[in-house]
Amino acid sequence: MSAASAQHGTPILSTRHLIGVAGLSVAEITALLDLAEEYVEVSRQRRKLELLKGRTQINLFFEPSTRTQSSFELAGKRLGADVLNMSVGTSSVAKGETLLDTAQTLNAMNPDLLVVRHQHSGAAELLAQKVSCAVINAGDGWHEHPTQALLDALTIRRHKGRFEHVVIAICGDIRHSRVARSNILLLARMGAQVRIIAPSTLLPPNAARLGVEVFTSMEEGLPGADVVMMLRLQKERMDGAFIPSEREYYRFWGLNEQRLALAKEDAIVMHPGPMNRGVEIDSVVADGPRSVIREQVEMGVAVRMAVIDALARNLTREAAA
Ligand code: NCD
Repeated sequence: MSAASAQHGTPILSTRHLIGVAGLSVAEITALLDLAEEYVEVSRQRRKLELLKGRTQINLFFEPSTRTQSSFELAGKRLGADVLNMSVGTSSVAKGETLLDTAQTLNAMNPDLLVVRHQHSGAAELLAQKVSCAVINAGDGWHEHPTQALLDALTIRRHKGRFEHVVIAICGDIRHSRVARSNILLLARMGAQVRIIAPSTLLPPNAARLGVEVFTSMEEGLPGADVVMMLRLQKERMDGAFIPSEREYYRFWGLNEQRLALAKEDAIVMHPGPMNRGVEIDSVVADGPRSVIREQVEMGVAVRMAVIDALARNLTREAAA
C-alpha cells in the first residue's frame, strides 16, 4: 500500500483512543508498524500530506518532553492537521486548574485529537472518558507510553526483520518506567523473548508475573541478547534511595563497551532518551556503531503519524455512520 492509498485507508484500530498497548492485538500492532513504514518514506522525502486537513490536534504536556512532544507536532503537521501545543507552564494549569477543567476547556474548542502526557498513571484514560475527541497517551506516570513501544518495535523490526525468538534485554530502572512496561507488553505479545535486567530495588514488584526472564546482573542477562535497551534512572519518581550512588550504578549497571561485548555480535543498542551519559550508558556506546538511538527518534515521527492517521480514520468512519 502506498501512502497515497492510505487516504482511503481501511480501519486499523478497533478503539477510539490509544491509551496503552495492553489492548492492542498482534494484527493492530502489525498494521500500525506497516503504515509507519510508509510514513518513514514520506518523512524522508519531506512530503506533506493533506490527510488530516481541517482536523485539529492539541498536544497537552504536563511533564517536560523534547522528542515526544516535538515528534507528535511534526507528525500531525506532516499529515496536514492544525497542531496546537498547550504549554502547561504558562497556561491556567499553573494557576491551579484541574486536569478535568483544562480538558473541558480544550474540548469546547472541538479538537479531533488530544495528545496528553501527565505525571499520574491513569490520567489519559480519565481524560478519554471526559472529552469527545480521540485521546493519545504520550506517557502517564509509571503506567504506559504506547507510541514509544511502537517506535521501539518498528526500530527492532527494521534491524532484526522479525520479533519471534528475538532476545531483548531491557536494562535499568524498570520499576519506575512506563517505557519498560509498554515495551514488555508489546514485545512479548509479538513473540519476542524479553528479559529485564536491574538491581533488585529497581525491579517492579510483579516482575515474576510479567512473563519475562528476570536478571539482577548485566553479566548474566546480556549474553545472547539481540537488542540491549537501556533506560534512564527515573529519579523524579523515586521517593527514597534506590541506588547507592550514580557512580556505583554506572559501575555495575552502566552499558560500556565491555558489557556490550557480552551480547550478540550484531546486537543493537537502544535508549528512549533523554540519556544520562555516564550513568546508564557510556558515550562511546551511545554514539557507537551499534547504537540505533537516533533512528529511534526518526521512527518516532513515523509511528506517531501512523497512530494519528489510524485514529482519524475511525473519526471519519464515525462521522459517516
Ligand atoms: C521517556 C518517558 O518520558 O517516559 N522519554 C521519552 O518519551 N522518550 C523515558 C524517560 O523519560 O526516561
